[in-house]
Amino acid sequence: TIFADKAAACRSLAAELAKLIRETNATGRSVVLGLATGSTPIPLYQELIRLHSEEGLSFSQVITFNLDEYLGLERQHPESYWTFMHRQLFDHVDIPAENIHIPSGTVGDVAAHCAEYEAAIEAAGGIDFQLLGIGRTGHIGFNEPGSPRDSRTRRIELDPVTREDAAPAFGGLDKVPTHAITMGCGTILAARRIGLLAFGAHKAAIVREAIEGPVTDQVSASFLQDHPDACFYLDRAAAGQ
Ligand code: GLP
Repeated sequence: TIFADKAAACRSLAAELAKLIRETNATGRSVVLGLATGSTPIPLYQELIRLHSEEGLSFSQVITFNLDEYLGLERQHPESYWTFMHRQLFDHVDIPAENIHIPSGTVGDVAAHCAEYEAAIEAAGGIDFQLLGIGRTGHIGFNEPGSPRDSRTRRIELDPVTREDAAPAFGGLDKVPTHAITMGCGTILAARRIGLLAFGAHKAAIVREAIEGPVTDQVSASFLQDHPDACFYLDRAAAGQ
C-alpha cells in the first residue's frame, strides 16, 4: 500500500494494530506482536502511545517479541534495542514488564538463549502480527544475505553495509558490534500477518528488489512474496522504483 507520507502510513498501521488488540482482547486472549527497531517505526510507536493516552488503548494484554539485539551490548547501553524499545514505546504504555521479550546481547550460552526465545514465542501461541523494517542489504531483523528461508533465532555476523549504516549512531564504525542475535527468516514467516514499513527514496531500490525481484536468500525480504498475509506500507518515495 502506498501512502501520501510516513505519517499517514503509520496512522493506518496503528489503527490496524489497535483494532487487532481490542478485538483479540475481547475474546479473552492476549495479542502477540513482533516488534522492530530502527528510525522507521518511531512514528508508529508515537501514534500507538497517543492511542494509549488519548483513546484508552491498553497494552496490558499485549505480549511482545523483538526481532533482534546487538551482541555485546548491555541492556543499558544507549544503542541497545532494549533501550530503544523502552524509550520509544514501553515506558509510555501499560505493558507489563513480563510481557516484553527482547533477545539478550550479553547472554553466555547464545544457542540455548536462542532456543528459549523460539520456545517462548511458541508458548505464547505464535506471533499474530510481525512488524518489520528493511535494511539496505534487504535484511529483515538482522537476516543478512545468505540467511536461509527456514532459519530460526540465532547469532549472525552483521554485513559491512549494515555496520556502516549504524556507525553514526555509535559514533564510529569501530564501535558498532560485529554480531547480533536475530529471529530467523523462518521465525518471521511463521507470523500470521506481517507488515513491513519503508520510507524515503533511499529505500526504493531495495523495496523494488524485495517486491518485484526474484525470491532469493540474497534479499531476505523477498521471502515475504510467498507469505499469505504480508503487506508493505510505503510512502511515495520508497515506492518510487
Ligand atoms: C537495523 C534493524 C532493522 C531495521 C534497519 C533499518 O538494521 N535491525 O530491523 O529495519 O536497521 O533501519 P532504519 O529504519 O533506521 O532505516
